[in-house]
Amino acid sequence: MRAVSGESAAARALLSGAHRVVVFTGAGVSAESGVPTFRGPGGLWKTFRPEQLATPKAFARDPRLVWEWYGWRRELLASCRPNLAHVALARWMLQREGVTLVTQNVDDLHERAGTPELMKLHGSLFEDRCSGCGRAAAAHRRTDGPTDRDDGTMLPLCPECGALLRPGVVWFGEMLPPDALARAYQRAGEANAVLVIGTTGAVYPAAGIVHEARAEGAAIIVVDPGQTEYDAVADIRLTGPAGELVPPLLA
Ligand code: OAD
Repeated sequence: MRAVSGESAAARALLSGAHRVVVFTGAGVSAESGVPTFRGPGGLWKTFRPEQLATPKAFARDPRLVWEWYGWRRELLASCRPNLAHVALARWMLQREGVTLVTQNVDDLHERAGTPELMKLHGSLFEDRCSGCGRAAAAHRRTDGPTDRDDGTMLPLCPECGALLRPGVVWFGEMLPPDALARAYQRAGEANAVLVIGTTGAVYPAAGIVHEARAEGAAIIVVDPGQTEYDAVADIRLTGPAGELVPPLLA
């Protein structure tokens, strides 16, 4: 194994020599902003059960519980800021051509860092969607809609068809937005290098874009403090937090 600084220099050289780069981020890129990951220590899926909160069935069974959980995640994000990794990525993309940023994250930290172009594969915490007619809607305020509870917690309704609005995120068992997914796979297939940051690579079809890129000859660089599904296919692996390792990589 080479020393970390050697690996980092090799990764820098690889990225600056690549014409087309895909950056693929997961929950880990937002960890240093205070956003919990899903599968690591303190991860959301260690405390909460996805089948009770993040499936269409869960929403049909108890929409209030699901909205309370997503409302809590929205509020948590309000007190978080983009970290050095989000900012370095945004600056890098503004300075050079040929970079596509694909994220699985539903937070808005890449956007708030000023990222010029972003493909969001799992939707957004800050959008609603109608559970009936499927129309996208701006995120409702907590006071919108009818209430049947003393604490004033309300459930939002679609202004078009009157059905319940739901969070605009992709749930387990649902399709990813087909256009964004197809474009992400296409960019991955054309990439010379992929920079993977803070994802275990466990959730498909999003996780497959890295394997698609590798099959087409791209070099794979992984930045993550823990083990990932990509470790066996990574050309360069940088072990540590994104906020420390990403800025010098892109400087
Ligand atoms: P995971 O929780 O599976 O993985 C987070 C990764 O971030 C792990 O590999 C951690 O080691 C790493 N990590 C932790 N701290 C980090 C840091 N400071 N810097 C860099 N990396 C760090 O999250 P995802 O892979 O994003 O799907 O999860 C994929 C999907 O599973 C999510 O989009 C979500 C979830 O169910 C949906 O909501 C549809």
